[in-house]
Amino acid sequence: MKISIAEACELLNCGSIVAVPTETVYGLAASLTQPAAVDKIFALKGRPSNNPLIVHTANLEQIIQYVTTIPEGTQKLAEAFWPGPLTLTLPSNPDKVPSRVRAGLTTTAFRIPNHPLTRELLQHTGPLVMPSANISGRPSATQRAHVEEDFGIDFPVLDGGACSHGVESTILHHNGECWQVIRLGALSAETFAPILGYVPAIAVTPKDHAPLCPGQLYRHYAPNAQLILSTDELDKYQGVVIGFSDRSYPEAIRVIALGPVSTPEFVAESLYAALRQLDQEGVQKAIVDMRFPKEGLWLTIAERLKKAAAM
Ligand code: TXA
Ligand code: MG
Repeated sequence: MKISIAEACELLNCGSIVAVPTETVYGLAASLTQPAAVDKIFALKGRPSNNPLIVHTANLEQIIQYVTTIPEGTQKLAEAFWPGPLTLTLPSNPDKVPSRVRAGLTTTAFRIPNHPLTRELLQHTGPLVMPSANISGRPSATQRAHVEEDFGIDFPVLDGGACSHGVESTILHHNGECWQVIRLGALSAETFAPILGYVPAIAVTPKDHAPLCPGQLYRHYAPNAQLILSTDELDKYQGVVIGFSDRSYPEAIRVIALGPVSTPEFVAESLYAALRQLDQEGVQKAIVDMRFPKEGLWLTIAERLKKAAAM
């Protein structure tokens, strides 16, 4: 159900939750200062309690109030990429960020999103926690209709149209020496090189170590359909294909095109809608054309598809 900024503001201030647009994916928002609303988010999504939430704010000054130490490079990253699809995990004051939000960790994840409606909303509400607006495990929502698919047509949504990036923010964590990518996202690792002076490594959680990004543990982004990832020529494949608009799949019974293989930005933008489309059409099984470069934004696309295909 479409709501206005004023209605969203009132609902949030009264302890309700609403879905809001961001430039990455839609978020399910609750006020950071309303513990019951934060609990509702976990319940509604079916989200495990050990998976922390990202705190979204209107500006850096608000973030600084929660942070205990500011890792080297934070200011430069903030200036270059905020508002935008970057999340930073920063050591935070346990008295100021509820343990439930951080899932008991000593850091909190922060982001300043860049969607005009949600930026305006944040000016009125103060900090909002916002996981992606999908039932846990499902593909994220990049349009109001996707939110309504998961939570019902009466669920309040601030409709900001289709999300421009279409995949979640990149999460960076400072390990004491340097920044690392702990979740691939809308910004490729190379994007940070001019600002940091190095390409942040894509972190792998060491064995017997607590997960660097708890959410990465779970099955994610998955349609009901079984997905088979393939790097083969698909000339002879006779089933449903998720592929590219500039390739042909002559024998396929149905092709859902993500866009041209020359434009990963376009592919990322349409990815979750394509996965949701499979379920709308009642498809049981689809093959995904994985013949694309192993670099830049493609790494994010490949990671999402691998998670979506995991059983
Ligand atoms: O683009 C996005 O980031 C979207 C929009 C709505 O802003 N939000 C989003 O939230 O993707 P969510 O909850 O679906 O994913 C947040 C991820 C989870 O994998 C969680 O484990 C991780 O961030 N996370 C949150 N706090 C963390 C922390 N302190 N340390 C490490 N990982 C953290
Ligand atoms: Mg999510």
